[in-house]
Amino acid sequence: MKIAFIGIGNVGFALANNLQKKGHKILVVSNDQTSKSVQKALESNESFQVVGVQEAIQEAEMFFLATPFSANESILTQLDFQGKILVDCTNPVGAGISHGLSSKVSGAEKVQEWASSAKVVKAFTIYGFENFQNTIFPKYNVKPVMMIAGNDSSAKKQLEPLVNDLGFDMLDTGKLDQALHLEHMTLLWVKMVRRDGHHPNFTWAYLEKSV
Ligand SMILES: NC(=O)c1ccc[n+]([C@@H]2O[C@H](COP(=O)([O-])OP(=O)(O)OC[C@H]3O[C@@H](n4cnc5c(N)ncnc54)[C@H](OP(=O)(O)O)[C@@H]3O)[C@@H](O)[C@H]2O)c1
Repeated sequence: MKIAFIGIGNVGFALANNLQKKGHKILVVSNDQTSKSVQKALESNESFQVVGVQEAIQEAEMFFLATPFSANESILTQLDFQGKILVDCTNPVGAGISHGLSSKVSGAEKVQEWASSAKVVKAFTIYGFENFQNTIFPKYNVKPVMMIAGNDSSAKKQLEPLVNDLGFDMLDTGKLDQALHLEHMTLLWVKMVRRDGHHPNFTWAYLEKSV
């Protein structure tokens, strides 16, 4: 699949690099020749292709958004996604590792509002980027889970093979209003690891009894 990344820093690069290794074509959306993250990404993976916004809109089958949340409104309101899928990997994080929108609405719902021509799916936010670089947990007979949310069922189904390519089992938690709870799971993970010293290489798993 041809996948365009808006934002290719810690999160964007880890996901793009692993998707490329699984055979996907990665387009890095940037008009900024001086971007440090774009230069670093190209040095690390020569197969990435840097494209402008219009080319990305024409070529890409799916978009990943991995930018600071504060940049999202100005980026997204200028784009016409023409009904394509936009995977929102961003988190609104406020002062003291709080919810950046005071838990009144999820960042993903704001992303959907700003990118009204896209089908937004929230994913790849509940862990730190370390777990997107390497999702293999050799001692366990279970895969890490990636919880997602979105209003469009078909968009979520189309995302599932990519979630699997990245080493996760996908758990559809429901519509986009569930993203608020996923964003609180992010804060839980971030406080445990970045504030309280828990090891970053841990994830959640989904265990369901059939009886
Ligand atoms: N870090 C984590 O562990 C983690 C995990 C899950 C989710 N997230 C979320 O993922 C998002 C990205 O985090 P990150 O750690 O990957 O950040 P990062 O390493 O700082 O990368 C941010 C990327 O966004 C680009 N960017 C910044 N401002 C932009 C703008 N106005 N227009 C277009 N591109 C812009 C940067 O380009 P330049 O290099 O040119 O500035 C860079 O490529 C955040 O919303 C974060 O909350 C982070």
